[in-house]
Amino acid sequence: MTRMKVWLDADPGVDDAAAIILAARMPEIELVGVSACAGNVELSYTYENARNLVAYTGLNLPVHKGADRPLLAEPHFAREIHGKNGLGGQSLPASTAGHEKLPAWDAIYRAACEYAGELIVVMIGPLTNLALALLKYADLKEKIKRVVLMGGAVSYGNTTPAAEFNIYFDPEAADIVFSAGLDISMLGLDVTMQAYLDEPAIDRIHAVNEKGAFMAASMRQTLTWARKLYNLDFVAMHDPCTFLYLVYPELFRSELAGVRIETKGKLTRGKTVSDVHSDYKFEDRTVDVVLGIDHKRFLDCFMEILGRY
Ligand code: BDR
Ligand code: CA
Repeated sequence: MTRMKVWLDADPGVDDAAAIILAARMPEIELVGVSACAGNVELSYTYENARNLVAYTGLNLPVHKGADRPLLAEPHFAREIHGKNGLGGQSLPASTAGHEKLPAWDAIYRAACEYAGELIVVMIGPLTNLALALLKYADLKEKIKRVVLMGGAVSYGNTTPAAEFNIYFDPEAADIVFSAGLDISMLGLDVTMQAYLDEPAIDRIHAVNEKGAFMAASMRQTLTWARKLYNLDFVAMHDPCTFLYLVYPELFRSELAGVRIETKGKLTRGKTVSDVHSDYKFEDRTVDVVLGIDHKRFLDCFMEILGRY
């Protein structure tokens, strides 16, 4: 089997942690490097969490530190969803791996040169690190095969009524990434809110094995907050959708559309403006916008992959 060469950029993050735990048991994917970005919580936490998750899942991979803040915006974290440490109050054994000196943007470029034309970049946090790499290396966009990202939405927002968290955290970075001419698959709230785990599903995950017990414990705090803050009776597995889409696209429904990032609007800053539902269509309709997932098959897949530990 030819394995997909994948770079992961993340801000772990309860659902980022679930994504990493699953990705490490998907043989179709060969993770070649990981970078961390400030997002759900401060970089000091997301970087340590990324390192510890890589070690915890048995991966032997470099983890690179990225941006500790958005390009221009003030950072606003999501501690109310992910807990102070980003893992819903859970902790992992500290990785004993050495610390990488190369910053995320240089490491992404180095991997893109090593796997030129082959590298798939999966982004499950704000887009700051990739934007910085694109700004620094003019030829990077030609070397990346595709970008699969969790962010945005055709419909509504979860951080403002218009904007989703990863895009709202750093709209200028998102604008750079979406304007670069990359082959982008966008998994926004339209699809990721359909990839939900309710309490019975979290209980089932807990019972699978030790990795499931860790995941479930981190999700329970998020569930408490989701109920309190948003009146939601489930936890959405936003970030795992990216890897599932790469490996099992048949579970999903998507369509090509034009997408732009609003960086200015008083009420709409951070919105991914798309022409999916609009009569007026943009001239270039090249973003693969993922809109739906088969929930039953999603859940079966999630459990099956977790069971590989
Ligand atoms: C996204 O924001 C973060 O809180 C999650 O990890 C996910 O990447 C969902 O809006
Ligand atoms: Ca994330």
